Amino acid sequence: MTRIPWWRDAVVYEIYVRSFADADGNGEGDLQGIRSRLGHLRDLGVDALWLTPFYRSPLADGGYDVADYRDVDPRFGTLDDFDALVADVHAHGLRLIVDIVPNHSSDRHPWFQEALAAPPGSPERARYIFRPGRPGERPGEEQPPNDWPSAFGGPAWTRVDDGAGGGEWYLHLYAREQPDFNWRNPEVRHEFEDVLRFWLDRGVDGFRIDVAAGLFKDESFGDLAGRDRRVANGPIYSRPEVHEVYRKWRRILDEYGGDRMAIGEVWTDGPEDLALYLRPDELHQVFQFDLQLASWSATAFRDVIDAALKAVAPTGAAPTWVLSSHDSIRHLTRYERPGGIPGIERARAKAALLLLLSLPGSAYLYQGEELGLPEVTDLPDEARQDPIFERTCGELAGRDGCRVPLPWSGRAEPFGFSPAGVRPWLPMPRDWASMTVEAQASDPSSMLAYYRGALAMRRRLAGDLPEELEWLDSPDTALFFRRGPLTCALNCGENPVRLPPGTPLLTSAPLYGDLLPGNTAAWLRTP
Ligand code: NOJ
Repeated sequence: MTRIPWWRDAVVYEIYVRSFADADGNGEGDLQGIRSRLGHLRDLGVDALWLTPFYRSPLADGGYDVADYRDVDPRFGTLDDFDALVADVHAHGLRLIVDIVPNHSSDRHPWFQEALAAPPGSPERARYIFRPGRPGERPGEEQPPNDWPSAFGGPAWTRVDDGAGGGEWYLHLYAREQPDFNWRNPEVRHEFEDVLRFWLDRGVDGFRIDVAAGLFKDESFGDLAGRDRRVANGPIYSRPEVHEVYRKWRRILDEYGGDRMAIGEVWTDGPEDLALYLRPDELHQVFQFDLQLASWSATAFRDVIDAALKAVAPTGAAPTWVLSSHDSIRHLTRYERPGGIPGIERARAKAALLLLLSLPGSAYLYQGEELGLPEVTDLPDEARQDPIFERTCGELAGRDGCRVPLPWSGRAEPFGFSPAGVRPWLPMPRDWASMTVEAQASDPSSMLAYYRGALAMRRRLAGDLPEELEWLDSPDTALFFRRGPLTCALNCGENPVRLPPGTPLLTSAPLYGDLLPGNTAAWLRTP
């Protein structure tokens, strides 16, 4: 039998480092905290961990603003801690993926500081994207070079002070503290190739590439003029030049043994575009956000699954699935129905897990979903740290609600996240005492016990499951499919439906005889 590379069907657990476990007592998670909790991840039964950025950073965007790509931020630990973590992760039989942020740096990065100190046209400025502004309506007034918006609200350009009342503008597709690199400059390419090697040499198994489609911008820097900034063949994302970069990165990964991989955060609006990134000499995987974007409906799920499978089919790459991440509202809360049956969101989240884990390809879990954590929607304004909140003047709440630290133990904040008496960087809801790992670990009816059971069963079945999925006939409100010995049935409706043939292996709620209740999923052994 041919050996399947580990990432093709891995369950990867996303760790938002700042919110996972705080060992040093500064209120923020850290690498030692992760080391101390590896037992939880092994017992959960995941295959790999993805760490969000832990590099030196002022945390203007939670660490996606990197000031030194080759060092650990003191808030999160040291390089020695990182080395110890890699060794421990591997000793636990897990793999480790780290985030790499090549589209932009922090404005505190030495290169950007040098660029600010250097004059227009200098080699220091050529590492970023500086442009002159456009004349404004009144004499002496200036407008940004074009109309591109920042993904976080406001314009994507900020003007610097070059003296004598003048100044160029620099591009930042995200916060103003995140200047975009100029990937047309070979120095930038070489720097990132070196950064990849730096972490590969330290033993990482792969990279999650942030804003992977954004590195090159159309050189004419024309206006969007009303078009969506993500538009296909637009000036900002998925320019053809980006593929050469990932071909080179692939060659670097291949130089190292041990199935090192890269997964790109690629938002595209068409499968053809997505497939380009997955050519055999490019990235191993891209995130497919389709499930995360789908509403609670069998038809919607079926459509996105079909589209996602179709998108990767010609490439031979394995699909990827995700329900929640540090950038989106937790799916448990997304599945709420105001005025609906109490607890419906929990029933749906449990059912969704069986869907996620029975699809071909790899599944990405987000920390805390195994505890059934909801989005925290009532954070006080003064606690919010996501730049989206500030840049939209509070119009959008931002992503802090899914980044609240994990509750591990105890009856009150900090719930074992930090040492007793320490205030976590975001306040934790009072009613999380029943959600802690400690409270759930020994309760067979807990979400944690359910996740463990489902992951263990997926692992047992994995070797027997073909990569193909075959749809079976089902009532409109449900979807049934089979992968060899496993049949998955999900009923998104409210009324029970008759189960497809097979012996039940695992269900998200008790069955009514041979009926599958509403908002419930089942795995069955195919007869
Ligand atoms: C995507 C990351 O997931 C998100 O958290 C970040 O804000 C943006 N990229 C910008 O780096």
